[in-house]
Amino acid sequence: MEFNSKNEPSFLKVLNFLKTHDTEYLSGQDLSDVLRISRVAIWKSIKKIEELGYKIETKQKVGYKLVEKPKTIFPWELSSGLKTKFMGHTIYYFDEIDSTQRFSHEIANKENNGAIIIATQQNSGKGRIGRKWVSRNGGIYFSAVLFPKFDISFATVFPMAASLALAKTIEKLCEIKPELKWPNDVTIKGEKVAGILVDVSLQSNKIDYLILGIGINFDINEKEVQKELKKTPNFYGVKSLGEFSKNIKPVKFLQTLLQEIETIYFQLESKEIEKITKEWTKRSSTIGKNIKIPTEEGIIQGKATRIENDGALVVENKNKSSRIIAGDVVHLEK
Ligand code: BTN
Repeated sequence: MEFNSKNEPSFLKVLNFLKTHDTEYLSGQDLSDVLRISRVAIWKSIKKIEELGYKIETKQKVGYKLVEKPKTIFPWELSSGLKTKFMGHTIYYFDEIDSTQRFSHEIANKENNGAIIIATQQNSGKGRIGRKWVSRNGGIYFSAVLFPKFDISFATVFPMAASLALAKTIEKLCEIKPELKWPNDVTIKGEKVAGILVDVSLQSNKIDYLILGIGINFDINEKEVQKELKKTPNFYGVKSLGEFSKNIKPVKFLQTLLQEIETIYFQLESKEIEKITKEWTKRSSTIGKNIKIPTEEGIIQGKATRIENDGALVVENKNKSSRIIAGDVVHLEK
């Protein structure tokens, strides 16, 4: 099933009316009169709304009442109450897709700046360094199409800035303080709760567009995912946000995250890099630790001392200092 917020489905009128009158039963006749749709169309809409997972109580000869919304991040739920200036103003939704990241490239054009592509499940989710991203029901998986005005030199800080936005969202809404593992993993108690993948499309050495992909283990079965991933190189565990986010609906979480990402995006456009690297460092579990990173020139081992303004990690060992731009950090101490 696929929805695009640019073409709203016909049952939405009925759903919105049920939402705004959720303390009373509404008869089919009343709905038909108020919304100026036939009784048959009302009945079809009610069936569709139920199929999507909304719970509607039906009282014979009285009418319908909406009693529960599903957890699914449908575009009309995400749009309602979204306070961003451009992020998420166009939304594509899929029950199932191969990868939202792949699809985003297909629809990337300037009219779609800020478009969000969400999927309940992905069957070929992409992770960093060519890895797969296990994307079962219960997680939040989305990509954003972005046409930034910032310079190409900021492209490497952007994923890091996105991980900061994610950490801030978790701090705001959940009962836990997450940590940031270089370059852009969000962790809880040393295990991975979310990952970020940024694809950059270049045109004559300028950013044409970016695709920001985020996978969040929002409420997943840790053991099942762990089983699938444990043979992955440098695997360090999977954590679900579930136990810390009990009263938070996925829609609310994503709305807050989109706002935080937008804030950081505008900060980058106005070159406020130091603010971002400082805030990132405050939450980092990598800085100050002994680490190792496999690179093409061999394994670099030493103390991670700081990140630079392009997001590079500085690792010091005796009198030698190395600058790492990309890779996978292994923490050698807790
Ligand atoms: C990582 O390896 O840490 C990055 C994982 C990124 C996963 C997200 S889920 C939504 C988007 N679509 C994909 O195929 N990948 C990204």
